[in-house]
Amino acid sequence: MTKILIDREACIGCGSCTAVAQEIFEMDENFKAKLKKKEDFTEEEIKLAQEAVDMCPVKAIKIIE
Ligand code: F3S
Repeated sequence: MTKILIDREACIGCGSCTAVAQEIFEMDENFKAKLKKKEDFTEEEIKLAQEAVDMCPVKAIKIIE
């Protein structure tokens, strides 16, 4: 089952992930990214999450297949 991980220590709150994949990522009250959903990702969501991985300036997002 595919998992998406966010390294919240590494996240600098740039917000790119929430812009590109708002179904999956949101900002919390500390301006760190967090997951809106944790499982049952569709293929489309995984594609968007991969874009977020590529865009994150500090490489804080990982997709585990
Ligand atoms: Fe943080 Fe990277 Fe998203 S810095 S807000 S995880 S794009």
